[in-house]
Amino acid sequence: MASYDVIIIGAGPGGYVCAIRCAQLGLKTAVVEGRETLGGTCLNVGCIPSKALLHASHQLHEAEHNFVKMGLKGKSPSVDWKQMLAYKDDVIGQNTKGIEFLFKKNKVDWLKGWGSIPEPGKVKVGDETHDAKAIVIASGSEASSLPGVEVDEKVVVTSTGALELGKVPRSMVVIGAGVIGLEMGSVYSRLGAEVTVVEFLDHITPGMDKDTAKVFQRTLKKQGLKFILGAAVQKVEATKTKAKVTYKLRKNDAEATLDADTVLVATGRRPFTDGLGLDTLGIKTTGPGMIETDAHYATNIKGIYAIGDCITGPMLAHKAEDEGMAVAEILAGQAGHVNYGVIPGVIYTHPEVATVGETEETLKEQGRNYKVGKFSFMGNGRAKAVFAGDGFVKILADADTDRILGAHIIGPAAGDLIHEVCVAMEFGACTEDLARTCHAHPTYSEAVREAALACGDGAIHA
Ligand code: FAD
Ligand code: NAI
Repeated sequence: MASYDVIIIGAGPGGYVCAIRCAQLGLKTAVVEGRETLGGTCLNVGCIPSKALLHASHQLHEAEHNFVKMGLKGKSPSVDWKQMLAYKDDVIGQNTKGIEFLFKKNKVDWLKGWGSIPEPGKVKVGDETHDAKAIVIASGSEASSLPGVEVDEKVVVTSTGALELGKVPRSMVVIGAGVIGLEMGSVYSRLGAEVTVVEFLDHITPGMDKDTAKVFQRTLKKQGLKFILGAAVQKVEATKTKAKVTYKLRKNDAEATLDADTVLVATGRRPFTDGLGLDTLGIKTTGPGMIETDAHYATNIKGIYAIGDCITGPMLAHKAEDEGMAVAEILAGQAGHVNYGVIPGVIYTHPEVATVGETEETLKEQGRNYKVGKFSFMGNGRAKAVFAGDGFVKILADADTDRILGAHIIGPAAGDLIHEVCVAMEFGACTEDLARTCHAHPTYSEAVREAALACGDGAIHA
């Protein structure tokens, strides 16, 4: 048994970042993690492995579609699936070991095993109970399924099974046109599977700026993904090698079926707080397993805090990380805080889609007087050179003050470009500030400047 200033339960992006920051601020810190490796969902079965497969499959797509155009002749590469999975596992290993190194460097103890909180101030791991002045719950989330759909992680899979299928399926039905569905659907479509996405709503990516979502869907369709929108999945019947998906069209209740080698259930995630002892402690929750906190991440029980996917807000690694840093600063007596108005969201398909702040829909709902500056990547020389002219940068700004309210980018390196707007928003900048900033040529970022110019006297290359 040991005594700590802080014990964090869960070593995902929320927990491990919190731990490192706590240690940097002089607090004696330990992290409880039940997995074999650190890094949580994100590093083990989420962000990192999915990006490795997106990268590998994009290389294949480039070789098949664009190499010849650039004068690169020869046979396109074929897929060695085992090696692709080995590459993905190697990337995971490098990242999870990196966190172990950072823990050692910062003198953070890893208490291996599944933890629970028998009473405030105590954390039990296996047979040992440790004392902690503060406990931070960062236990993350797990995939949720649908009634009538039994996941076996072989034929009917969540994202976890989809990251290690036995082979590339010939056909895949994806249930849910959200982030996981479109990223993993893209991977398998590029690798040769016939991918059909069945979505309950009548548009993809709920919450995304509608204009951007429309172009995104059109682009994915061009790449070969099929969409059935406004369709509620009723059930999935699976054998050892195949599955049949039954869905009902919401507009007329017509029922239809789809056969596939693999079905990916990507209909959202839910907080994972099982086994912590929330009920015994009397910790308030707002939904199944979702922990309620105040603005300083404190639960209703003194000395117990919660961050990341197990509390409200977008289930994103960088949101969890920022909350981890903020709560560490609060525990060290500083004023940690997160600006929830400026949390970017990125979908790592090709092209990437990135968003921050308000959408046209939310601004209309609020009755705000706004203006739009839009610039197509067709007018960006660098994008055209790499066959990435499809897409645009769209900036939304207050019509009276010119202050930037949001941005939506679909195009090359959108996930990096968005941060220029994020920094501008953090500083309360106007579109004129972006427009007057010299941008190197030829870069994709010139499209951001052009969209900012379009909010004023007009873009130059439009
Ligand atoms: P988690 O990462 O879930 O970590 C929680 C950890 O706590 C786990 O390791 C778990 O084992 C451990 N734990 C739980 N209970 C206990 C206990 N009682 N005792 C000990 N240990 C415990 N987000 C992005 O921002 N970008 C992306 O590109 C992205 N891609 C994703 C792709 C996929 C396929 C998935 C599934 C998710 C993706 N996400 C992405 C979401 C991202 O992974 C999560 O938002 C993020 O991991 C949340 O961090 P967290 O620290 O709150 O929880
Ligand atoms: P999601 O919430 O993004 O999308 C789920 C989709 O499923 C929605 O479009 C919803 O309308 C649809 N749906 C729900 N029930 C349905 C039904 N019965 N039939 C058909 N469609 C149905 O959830 P997803 O994609 O599972 O991702 C979970 C979380 O992981 C998200 O919160 C996301 O933020 C995070 N994530 C983030 C990534 C990134 O930042 N690049 C990548 C992958 C995941």
